[in-house]
Amino acid sequence: MTRTAFLGMGHYVPPKVVTNDDLAKLFDTSDEWIQQRTGIKERHYIDQDGTGPSDLAVPAVQMACKNAGIEVSEIDAIIFATLSPDYTFPGSGVLLGDKLGLPGVPALDVRNQCSGFLYGLQVADAWIRCGMYKCVCLVGGEVHSTGIDFSDEGRDVTVLFGDGAACAILGPTEDDQAGVLDVEIHADGSGAKELWLEAPASAHIPRITHEMIDERRVWPSMNGRQVFRWATSKMPEVSLSVLQRNGVTPADLDLVVPHQANKRINELVGQKLEIPPEKVVHNIQKYGNTTAASIPLALSEAIQEGRAKKGDLILMPAFGSGFTWGAALVRL
Ligand code: UT7
Repeated sequence: MTRTAFLGMGHYVPPKVVTNDDLAKLFDTSDEWIQQRTGIKERHYIDQDGTGPSDLAVPAVQMACKNAGIEVSEIDAIIFATLSPDYTFPGSGVLLGDKLGLPGVPALDVRNQCSGFLYGLQVADAWIRCGMYKCVCLVGGEVHSTGIDFSDEGRDVTVLFGDGAACAILGPTEDDQAGVLDVEIHADGSGAKELWLEAPASAHIPRITHEMIDERRVWPSMNGRQVFRWATSKMPEVSLSVLQRNGVTPADLDLVVPHQANKRINELVGQKLEIPPEKVVHNIQKYGNTTAASIPLALSEAIQEGRAKKGDLILMPAFGSGFTWGAALVRL
């Protein structure tokens, strides 16, 4: 039976580091508050006008191809998961294909926020298992820093997010012990306005007005406590579901690589699943929440550090705006 293997991973963050103390100079917050509530110490921001997520993705894809032992030219499909596309249209996937020199290669954008990598992985897995494509470049990439509110009103959201990109090169394997074992995904749009960006939007006539800007409706807003409650309920629920339907127990897992939204959320998820803390990967302290990039960024780093190894059984749960959530079970 053909399965989808992780052939190589890569990641890239822009060099500019922004600490909690840097943010505390711009609005009313503190290093102590941010670290206590979220675990975040610093994050990376782009520092040049004109740098979009597709630009951050280029070095991530190059690193992933090198680790997979393939040429970039062998990529036959691109999936780009992002909530902060370079432009409203066209999508970041086509821009990335152009920057990589891949004319004619199909490029699909996935807009499922923090669960975007998992949604993309389920699509890539189906394409590969049915023989449609043989070398899928699955990217999560975000530039948040140009779209957040650096004022007291926006501080709850702004301290959380960072820029970055990561890539998985996926291809077929006949090894039935390896690869993507399962991906389970869900959505519930009744929570759409708990974490969203209201404007500009095609649902408004006109899409954007001076009033919207003055009323700060052009920045993301979040009901943090509500999102926290949902995340700490749905991530363990979907994790247990995907484990159970594959005959696996939490004790069988070598590593959990969760979406990095809040260290406290992931500690609670680990506790609910009774997973020893040393098996849960955290890198939110360095990057903040990079949304669709966060799971592949954490997995790529874990592989680079020798913490995730070939043959390891890995669970990757996520929850985010939408609401969307899911979990993937993978053997590296
Ligand atoms: O990846 C997408 C999914 N997103 C998430 O999963 C985020 C989920 N939510 C969370 O992680 C948490 O709700 C936050 C970290 C966003 C907030 O933590 P919290 O413990 O839920 O704080 P809170 O919203 O209940 O606010 C507590 C206090 C408030 O002040 P008062 O009303 O008690 O006086 C806030 O105004 O903290 C204040 N506050 C801040 N203070 C300093 C909110 N943001 C900040 C800030 N700095 N940045």
